[in-house]
Amino acid sequence: MSEIREIPSSLQRFERVGAHTHIKGLGLDENLKAVRIKDGMVGQEKAREAAGLIVQIIKEGKLSGRTIILAGPPGTGKTAIAMAIAKELGPNVPFIQMSGSEIYSSEKKKTEVLIEAMRKAIGVEIHEIRKVYEGEVTSLEIKTAPHPYNPYQRVPESVKLTLKTTKEEKTLEAGASIAQQIIAQGITEGCVIQIDAETGRVVNLGLCVESSKAKVYEVDDRAKVPRPTGSVLKEKEFVYTLTLDDLDRIHARNKGGGLFSLLFGFSESKEIDSEVRATVDEMVKRMVDEGKAFIHPGVLFIDDSHLLDLEAFSFLGRALESELVPIIILATNRGITTIRGTDVKSPMGFPLDLLDRAVIIATHEYSPEDIRDILRIRAQEEKIAIDDKALERLTEIGSNSSLRYAVQLLSLAAQNAKCMKRGTVTIEDIERVQSLFMDINQAVDHLRKYEMKMLYY
Ligand SMILES: Nc1ncnc2c1ncn2[C@@H]1O[C@H](COP(=O)(O)OP(=O)(O)OP(=O)(O)O)[C@@H](O)[C@H]1O
Ligand SMILES: [Mg+2]
Repeated sequence: MSEIREIPSSLQRFERVGAHTHIKGLGLDENLKAVRIKDGMVGQEKAREAAGLIVQIIKEGKLSGRTIILAGPPGTGKTAIAMAIAKELGPNVPFIQMSGSEIYSSEKKKTEVLIEAMRKAIGVEIHEIRKVYEGEVTSLEIKTAPHPYNPYQRVPESVKLTLKTTKEEKTLEAGASIAQQIIAQGITEGCVIQIDAETGRVVNLGLCVESSKAKVYEVDDRAKVPRPTGSVLKEKEFVYTLTLDDLDRIHARNKGGGLFSLLFGFSESKEIDSEVRATVDEMVKRMVDEGKAFIHPGVLFIDDSHLLDLEAFSFLGRALESELVPIIILATNRGITTIRGTDVKSPMGFPLDLLDRAVIIATHEYSPEDIRDILRIRAQEEKIAIDDKALERLTEIGSNSSLRYAVQLLSLAAQNAKCMKRGTVTIEDIERVQSLFMDINQAVDHLRKYEMKMLYY
């Protein structure tokens, strides 16, 4: 008998704490007003409320081509708010995140990177009605024949099977391809299966709960499904959720056929040509008109977007005019700076025509109270116990240096406490790590001192 061992549930998940894992949402009430501390978010109320309105607009899916800029000093929660927007949108609305620097790839054109990201941010829900045979297999007989080249080997030639639903029972006969699929998927009597009436694709849905087999094996990892209702041959609606980019790839693959794809499988090209994309757009629009598809425009979030250059901006500007574009959120921490690729200065390093099309959400620096509460949430997230005095010291460091630096010191202090075999982070741990590491101002002073020395020698 095989031995079965239960895995303790604490071991099953591999947990890592990232910079934004404590962010669970925007922390708004039902009237979209920000609650000071909620969903891992602290303070920054105006920006969170603004983001809440944007989420509503995106969820309604009507508006396209809107641009939102998140602007504020480093470490004031721009990326955190974007993450919260993604959480609020839920899993069915695509949220694509990239950094402005990602467009500089040696393999793809800048505009190609952007267009691909935009198309990944648009979901297409396709509804398809297909005729299928569906039921529990109550009898299964596979006929074999000698292999044409090797008479000692037998291959499946045809299959005769009976499918049962709560209403009726039907016996079908099918050829070699269906017989092979049945063998490959390990389908036996008692399984509930679906056979596409046109393509002959077989899907094993699981073991029928009412079948005698489901009762024999108590420990069985196969999915249990009820016996299907209605007729054996029926029309069923299938729903697939893909993105425009998925459709481009499928289309390019089918089109790119030829000898190479026959011999070596499909050829994966690096770029998809615009013709393919135009065809996909046409197809999608047609399906939407026929009521067979629904579009879910999502979000393309470009962090550190001052790293984009003029070419990328003008492409974005043009793309925003078309119909199938997502909502674009750009984040930046720059004031007046040059637009990359030019020597023109402009607010946030963005061209004026793009700024003109956008609404701006500003984030502000944190008060010591906010910093204390964010640190408290981070301590909980990292499972760190910290006493009040230590938290006060960290809050001070956060206000004088930066929130991020204080968060870093918190993890380091916790590691120090662990080495000292203490369960709680105390002020000694903070002082120790403060003496070992530097914040940016200290590091600059330190290097300056040496620069001077080098110059005088
Ligand atoms: N209001 C907030 N509530 C809770 N945590 C926050 C809040 N704002 C920022 N944080 C956390 O503080 C850290 C720094 O914030 P974030 O990375 O969002 O800053 P940023 O504005 O994107 O900075 P940069 O301009 O450098 O990219 C992150 O770990 C973030 O999750
Ligand atoms: Mg950021």
